[in-house]
Amino acid sequence: MSHKCSFLILFFLVNIGWQVYSSAQDADGRCVCTVVAPQQNLCSRDAKSRQLRQLWEKIQNMSQSIEVLNLRTQRDFQYIMKMESQIKGLRSKLRQMESNRRVLLTKNFQELKGKIDELQPLMPVLEQYKTDAKLISQFQEEIRQLSMVLMGIQEEMGAYDYEELQQRVISLEGRLRNCMSRLTCGKLMKITGPNTIKTSGTRFGAWMTDPQASTKNNKVWYMDSYTNNKIVREYKSMSDFIAGVESRTYSLPFHWAGTNHVVYNGSLYYNKYQSNIVVRYSFESGRVVTQRALESAGFHNVYPYTWGGFSDIDLMADELGLWAVYATNQNAGNIVISQLEPHTLQVLASWNTEYSKRNAGESFMICGTLYITNSHLTGAKVYYSYSTKTSTYEYTDIPIHNQYFHMSMLDYNARDRALYGWNNGHQVLFNVTLFHVIKSNDDS
Ligand SMILES: *[C@@H]1O[C@H](CO)[C@@H](O)[C@H](O)[C@H]1NC(C)=O
Ligand SMILES: *[C@@H]1O[C@H](CO)[C@@H](O)[C@H](O)[C@H]1NC(C)=O
Ligand SMILES: *[C@@H]1O[C@H](CO)[C@@H](O)[C@H](O)[C@H]1NC(C)=O
Repeated sequence: MSHKCSFLILFFLVNIGWQVYSSAQDADGRCVCTVVAPQQNLCSRDAKSRQLRQLWEKIQNMSQSIEVLNLRTQRDFQYIMKMESQIKGLRSKLRQMESNRRVLLTKNFQELKGKIDELQPLMPVLEQYKTDAKLISQFQEEIRQLSMVLMGIQEEMGAYDYEELQQRVISLEGRLRNCMSRLTCGKLMKITGPNTIKTSGTRFGAWMTDPQASTKNNKVWYMDSYTNNKIVREYKSMSDFIAGVESRTYSLPFHWAGTNHVVYNGSLYYNKYQSNIVVRYSFESGRVVTQRALESAGFHNVYPYTWGGFSDIDLMADELGLWAVYATNQNAGNIVISQLEPHTLQVLASWNTEYSKRNAGESFMICGTLYITNSHLTGAKVYYSYSTKTSTYEYTDIPIHNQYFHMSMLDYNARDRALYGWNNGHQVLFNVTLFHVIKSNDDS
C-alpha cells in the first residue's frame, strides 16, 4: 500500500466513485487492486475518468522517454564537459605563454596555437549542448508539475479544465519528440571500446542485430567468412549468442560476397556472389523477396576495401534508412553512396565522393553521414566523412582501437548507438559519441 503507484491509482479510483476493496503487490511487484464498480453508472464521469487515465499514462510514458534521453546524453555530456574544460585550460596556458617572447617563437607553441584555433568553432556547439541539457531538465519539471495537477484533481473533479490539461500534455509530447529526434542524431566525435563480445569464426565475417526491431527483440545474426557460404545463424538474444545457443539457421539460396551485409526491418540485405546484385531475403518467409543489380557498381574485388575479400558492395542502415556504398568506373573507383528503397531496392538518390574505395578500410553511416576509415590494420582512424545532407566532405581524425589488428566489418546500429565490428575472429562492439549539431527549426 505504501507503493507509490498503487497509491496514485487508488486515489483516482476512490475519487471517481469506485470503492477499493483491497490492494497489494503481487509476486512481481506489480500493483494489484480489487475494486468494486460504482452502482450508478455516470456516463460522463466514466468518459472523463477514461480520459484522465489516458493522460496519466501519457505522462508516465513521457517520463520514461525522458529517462532514456537522459541516459543517452549523460555519456556524451561528460565527454563534452571534459573537453570544454580542456580547451579552456589550454587557452589560459596559452595566454600565460604568450607573455614570454622566447616561447612565442618555438614550433611547438605555434602548433599548439593552431590546434586551439581549430577547436574554436566547437565552442558554440558546446553551448548548444548545454542548452539541450537544460531543456531536458525543463521537461522533467513540467512533467512533475502535470503529475501534481493530476494528483490534485480530486478536489475539483467537476470543475477542472480537462481541455487545458490535455493541451499541455499534447504540447509537451510534441516538444519531447522533437527534442529526442534532435538529440539522437549528430556528428561523430569519438569511438570508445572495443568491448569483445565473443571470439568465434574465421578472421572474416559479419554479425549484427536489427536496428528496426523493438528493444525487446534482440536477435543476433551471424555470418562467418566472406565467400563460399550461405548459412546464417540466428540467436534469440545477445546472451544466447555469447553462450552459443542457436535458435535457427537459414540456408540462403545464393552465396554471399564479402562481409558487408545488413539486417534491416526483418530482412537480410546482401551482395550475391560474383555479381553486383543486391538481394533482400525475408527471415519470416525464408525467401528472397527482391533482387536488383546496383547499376555500374564494381564487384568481385574490382573495388574492395583495403583488405579485399569481395568487399566491393557495402550495405548499411542508419537513422534515415538503407544505404549501399560501392565504387564505379564512372566515379574513377571512388566511393559512391546510394540510398535504397528497402522494398524494391531502387536507388532513391546517389552521391559521388572523392575517396578511393580501394584506400578505404571500412565505412559506416550515421545520421546520413558516411564515415570512412583509412585502413583495416592497426592505427586505423576515421579519416574522412561525407554528409549526404549537404553533399560536402571533411577530413576527420577520430581514432578507433583496432584491438585484434584486422578489421573486416564495421557497421553502425542506430538502435544500439554502437558499431558492430568483426575484429580478426572476435565479435566486438564500439560505442560512439555524437555531437548534436542543431539548427532550431530542423526538419528532423
Ligand atoms: C504508453 O506507452 C505504451 C507502450 O509503449 C502504449 O501502448 C500506450 O498506448 C502509451 N499510452 C499513451 C496514452 O500514449
Ligand atoms: C558502451 O556503453 C554502454 C552503456 O553506457 C556500456 O555498458 C558499455 O560498457 C560501453 N561499451 C564500450 C565498449 O565502451
Ligand atoms: C518495416 O516493416 C513493416 C512490416 O513489414 C512495415 O509496415 C514498415 O513500414 C517497415 N518499416 C520500414 C522503415 O521500412
